[in-house]
Amino acid sequence: MKNLSISCGSGDILSPDRIRLSQLIKSRYAQPPACYIHTYGCAQNVSDSEKIMHVLSDCGYVFTDKPENADLIVLNTCAVRENAHDRVFGNLGGFKKLKQKNNDLIICVCGCMTQQKQVVDIMEKSYGFVDVVFGTYGAKQLPDMLYEVMKNGKRVVRSFDEGDLISEEMKQLRSDTVRASVPIMYGCNNFCSYCIVPYVRGRERSREVSAVCDEVRELVGNGCKEITLLGQNVNSYSYGFVKLLERINDIEGDFRVRFLSSHPKDAGRELIDAILSLDKVCKHLHLPVQSGNDEILKKMNRHYTVGEYLKIVDYAREKDPSFSFTTDIIVGFPGESYEQFCDTKKLLHRVRFDNIFSYVYSKRSGTKAAQLEDNVSDKEKGMLLRELLEEQRDITEKWLGRFVGKTLTVLPTEKGRTGEGYISGKSDENIIVEFKGGERLINSFVRVKIIKAMNWALLGEIEDK
Ligand code: SAM
Ligand code: SF4
Ligand code: F3S
Repeated sequence: MKNLSISCGSGDILSPDRIRLSQLIKSRYAQPPACYIHTYGCAQNVSDSEKIMHVLSDCGYVFTDKPENADLIVLNTCAVRENAHDRVFGNLGGFKKLKQKNNDLIICVCGCMTQQKQVVDIMEKSYGFVDVVFGTYGAKQLPDMLYEVMKNGKRVVRSFDEGDLISEEMKQLRSDTVRASVPIMYGCNNFCSYCIVPYVRGRERSREVSAVCDEVRELVGNGCKEITLLGQNVNSYSYGFVKLLERINDIEGDFRVRFLSSHPKDAGRELIDAILSLDKVCKHLHLPVQSGNDEILKKMNRHYTVGEYLKIVDYAREKDPSFSFTTDIIVGFPGESYEQFCDTKKLLHRVRFDNIFSYVYSKRSGTKAAQLEDNVSDKEKGMLLRELLEEQRDITEKWLGRFVGKTLTVLPTEKGRTGEGYISGKSDENIIVEFKGGERLINSFVRVKIIKAMNWALLGEIEDK
């Protein structure tokens, strides 16, 4: 194979499948072909898209944010809620029109949706203009699939099983070099009764500590300031999550670390102690509670009670009274009464989250909850969601007040919404902070004294030294 290997821009040795496709591309296109990639869903999918981009870039593709200029369109899909499904099918209608204008356009649909057999069946039957279909395991085989389409005009529909795990040790082409996500594990074993993720992402498997640390070291060496460790339940990381945090904390450099997500059944005092004691770990915990009612939590198969959840919160607040929590909540779970929903509202007041991510329950075929009667109408679910968000807005505004007069470390990333001259970024506590400062400060840590709390952010000014 050695004589087949050529070096790509990153200095890596290209594999034969990538060489084969890049040669075909060179013979077909006068200019490097453009790829438009649209990512739906969570941070894990964004990270997968960056892997796909790395493969495509090795093969000679460049990237565009305009689908009408693209030679290849990739939709990396999400299956977590019905509306994510609907958006993909909706967008495909528009891409079909582009394909009618340009028959050489290649359309690829991949990700969590196409890991489901019923979706692959629909793609095969009714979406003949989609050239490549694969699920959550196949990114590494993309050059072979594209070659098949380009060279032989064949449509490729492949569903991969967990035997294709090698795709997981792939490089990412990151568009943001200052903030980067690093997957530490894949899959999920929890089978929350409403959730499709374990079915489309398989069982949990953890990356080696050394692989994660090497990647973090490289990113930091290249100027990265914020690393987000990714996993559906980072607390069940096989080699010990707190140990991993300690190892990362020991890496030299001016950077901070976040992580997503923690499952309350596995998050304990040790985690809170680590967050509070390790200087590079952000002082914030995203701890999805889903519901504030024990009966609903049981039906959701979450394996903790509200009391157990509150024990973690109380322990953290004992150690640091202003400790920051955010959470996920589902409203309108099958059989949820208004009283049970009110228990969730009570929990919001009891915990005082800085922010919540709330969703209306969406029935996912194949999950346990899909067998329960979805007896809350869409209209009711919408009303519950609005009620919850309104309640939270007041809590956020009052609770963020605890930071007024304090100085926080902020990593500004963009222009602010507050007005001319403002820039905006997140504090270690994961709270948006806006302050007046030159755009040259973007992407560097700034100490900001907080002067005002709003219901969506904090307002501050650069601290006088
Ligand atoms: N693994 C993470 C966890 O357990 O916190 C998050 C996984 S999921 C991608 C993100 C959020 O989507 C969940 O916390 C849950 O609130 C929501 N979610 C998952 N399935 C849902 C469904 N069927 N309907 C509505 N929301 C759902
Ligand atoms: Fe879904 Fe539960 Fe796994 Fe999170 S922990 S991905 S909600 S099954
Ligand atoms: Fe993420 Fe959606 Fe898949 S939330 S894991 S992209 S189902």
